[in-house]
Amino acid sequence: MRRPPLFLALVCLPLGPASAAAATPSPFPQGVAAGEITARSALVWTRAPRPGPVTVEVALDRRLTTARRVRRGRATGAADRTVRIAVAGLTPATRWFYRFRQGRATSPVGSFRTAPRPSSPATVRFAFAGDADAQPAPGSTEPFYNRFEVYGRMAAERNDFNVSIGDTIYSDSEVPGVPPALTRRAKWSKYRQNLALPRLRALRADTGLYSHWDDHEFVNDFSRAESGAAVHRAGVAAFTDYAPVRYRSATGLYRRFRWGRHLEVFLLDQRSFRDAKATAGGTCVDATTGIPDLAPTAPQTARNAFSALVPALAAPPPPGCLDRIRDPSRTLLGRRQYAAFTSAVAASSATFKVVMNETPIQELYALPYDRWAGYAAERERLLRFLSARVRGVVFLTTDTHANLVGEVRLDTFGPSGPGPTGITEVVAGPVATMTFARELGAVLNDPRAPDLLASTFFRPPPPRGLGMRCAVLDTYAYGQVEVTARRLTVRLKDGAGRPVRHPDGSSCKPVVVEAG
Ligand SMILES: [Fe+2]
Repeated sequence: MRRPPLFLALVCLPLGPASAAAATPSPFPQGVAAGEITARSALVWTRAPRPGPVTVEVALDRRLTTARRVRRGRATGAADRTVRIAVAGLTPATRWFYRFRQGRATSPVGSFRTAPRPSSPATVRFAFAGDADAQPAPGSTEPFYNRFEVYGRMAAERNDFNVSIGDTIYSDSEVPGVPPALTRRAKWSKYRQNLALPRLRALRADTGLYSHWDDHEFVNDFSRAESGAAVHRAGVAAFTDYAPVRYRSATGLYRRFRWGRHLEVFLLDQRSFRDAKATAGGTCVDATTGIPDLAPTAPQTARNAFSALVPALAAPPPPGCLDRIRDPSRTLLGRRQYAAFTSAVAASSATFKVVMNETPIQELYALPYDRWAGYAAERERLLRFLSARVRGVVFLTTDTHANLVGEVRLDTFGPSGPGPTGITEVVAGPVATMTFARELGAVLNDPRAPDLLASTFFRPPPPRGLGMRCAVLDTYAYGQVEVTARRLTVRLKDGAGRPVRHPDGSSCKPVVVEAG
């Protein structure tokens, strides 16, 4: 998500085999990747030197001699010479190695670990992050934000797998002066631009990576209803060209993966089936200024408290705005995905059900339109369902360009007080974009503004604020997760692998969810 102007008003690391290969020109300069990992299968990826047949060798050792098997695929110009090859018949809980060949050309050797059997009590470790843009400023060759140090640290964790949750490119970069990439071909160049950084290639090559999109694979705050089917088609095509994923028109990018007895991971597609945002057609938009209402779901007392900064908050939201936000016919997931997810998560026998979430489900109150809170009826229905029917649910999220740990509530400021769900959400990031704090501080022209927001609204407990356990708005970061029989632990870490810290020096403590 990128905030519109009004909202804004308010290390060197050890690198993997791919980067080692990058020291000399490689015929496979974008490296390799493995995704959609199960206990017995994977989908491996590369970009071939030229169109034509490609083979992949998979084996139990890095020299590709033990239990070797060969699978075949074909690179085509229509997919920018990217290749995805399914590999099945693997042994669970096992590290596998793979390498592509085309003629005499060989790729770097990649690796992934298959999931343990559902009965296995294995401890599982993974990391997640999102929001990564390697775009240089016009006239520069150096990435504007950073060189993906966060991805390098995730690779260095030697996890069982990792998750890249969305905004894996910026089709409409926040770097000034860069035109948007709206076609499949233009988006290809964005993926290649990010893959030019060795740390991303290392992350993809060193172990399995589940890839997922958010809005910027399409365009900012994307819905098909507002931005059009052509942008959706281009975004789907380019993403599935460059990420080893399976996409189906009926269920989009919704998938789930089981990792032993204690973990099932659900990835929700929040872009393919959503209705238009509540702002579509001018609802929730100030008719005079053309600017969306900043906090339509906040109680008037809270709006009044911020009206010195934003005078429009002294008045109620535009007529019809709250009715549109709360319209029970509006959907974020689409009815088919909602039904598939709720039935699967309720039936899951895993101790922990981790929901990889493109946009926050905590109610943040500021500009809710692109997030779950902008589809309030479906959000409430889902939270009531999960709270009543499913134990061990955790939401892991990116998108906000900030690190925010909080309880997911039905309504923090409702007349009957906070409506707890017992569910925690951890928002992490970004990898490489403008941070939330810099966005806010730049437009307010006051570097103290982010700290003020965190200390006066995000951190204080209800009814004063949101009661977040962690609210760090200016640190590139990822979430490192460990799942055991007894607990799920998330540690927010920065690009050097250190705990994420508040401006006062206090670190975000590990988030621990005990088994129910
Ligand atoms: Fe983003």
